[in-house]
Amino acid sequence: MTATQKPAEPVLSVRDLTVDFHGPDSVVHAVDGVSYDLHPGEVLAVVGESGCGKSVTSMAVMGLLPPTARIGGSVTLDGQELVGASERTWRSLRGRRLSMIFQEPMTSLNPVLTVGRQITEVLIHHQKLSKKDARARAIELLDLVGIPAPAERVDEYPHQLSGGMRQRVMIAIAVACDPAVLIADEPTTALDVTVQAGILDVLKSLRDRLGTAIVLITHDLGVVAETADRVLVMYAGRPVEQAPAEELFAHPSHPYTRGLLGAVLRPGSRTAEGRARLNEIPGLVPDLRKQPDACSFAPRCTFAQDDCRGGRPELRTLSGAHRIACHHPAGSAEPELMPVSASTSEEVSR
Ligand SMILES: Nc1ncnc2c1ncn2[C@@H]1O[C@H](COP(=O)(O)OP(=O)(O)OP(=O)(O)O)[C@@H](O)[C@H]1O
Ligand SMILES: [Mg+2]
Repeated sequence: MTATQKPAEPVLSVRDLTVDFHGPDSVVHAVDGVSYDLHPGEVLAVVGESGCGKSVTSMAVMGLLPPTARIGGSVTLDGQELVGASERTWRSLRGRRLSMIFQEPMTSLNPVLTVGRQITEVLIHHQKLSKKDARARAIELLDLVGIPAPAERVDEYPHQLSGGMRQRVMIAIAVACDPAVLIADEPTTALDVTVQAGILDVLKSLRDRLGTAIVLITHDLGVVAETADRVLVMYAGRPVEQAPAEELFAHPSHPYTRGLLGAVLRPGSRTAEGRARLNEIPGLVPDLRKQPDACSFAPRCTFAQDDCRGGRPELRTLSGAHRIACHHPAGSAEPELMPVSASTSEEVSR
């Protein structure tokens, strides 16, 4: 869906989300000021290095953080405020309006239950289907996510399936009740490139057929380029750049984003399967126990000046829907930083 087609009302709105984890001696500021809107049928990619708060942001949206987490800001689903909502409210929404494919699919499936049982449980709980109807629907869902011979597979256990098939089962469970919002946390990371393409096709077809809005967390720029309408780049718990995907790839403006995208033309930055990974930027991710009143990226930024170390840059509009938190963003387009999709990465690396 393009920005001009999108309906006026977002299905999910996140505003100034903060998540702090309170330990005995210190507080970890894991998420600090994340905001986004997600419209039906839209795909928002969330990117950033390990530990930058992608999963914690999503777990906050799902209401799945441990009691040590203090959550601030606002998360609204269909206009309903969820920060501070009761567990009963969350339970009525999770799996039904709001679903998540977790980062560790192999540990998310129950090894002692058949895949059919794991899907039918959701249908019986949320949609009050009879056992017979739930089983028929489970077979339909396995078919929908591209599992061959679904009527036989439905009675198999997770260990009888390949990694790609298990990931498809996870998707089938997540979308069993046609959720309005699906959060997919690194859904293709552990899979080889062909299986990855199949999983992305499943997600895209769900988006097209059911109008599901998708938050896609990924380290893979090919996936972002092929799938995302908009991109949120996070650094050390903070949003640093947000833009429509085409705009972000055409005019990456935050030095951090530009560093990450620098990977796409360097053959050495690809995985064995030829995927374009985010670039590794020299230096360390900061300690999240100390959120400075400065640009968090300044210690690693080759363009940092005194004002970067002396004041936190606010997220501001660069142009249109392109927002950035940087005192000295790059001004000009850099055509050499155009995205490389998984399918074209071979050509470029030659
Ligand atoms: N329960 C917790 N208690 C304390 N700190 C936590 C907890 N969960 C996560 N964190 C911290 O919050 C920060 C953000 O973690 P998060 O899992 O969101 O990273 P991520 O961006 O998803 O990384 P990755 O790409 O590795 O999955 C990390 O510093 C992590 O150690
Ligand atoms: Mg994560």
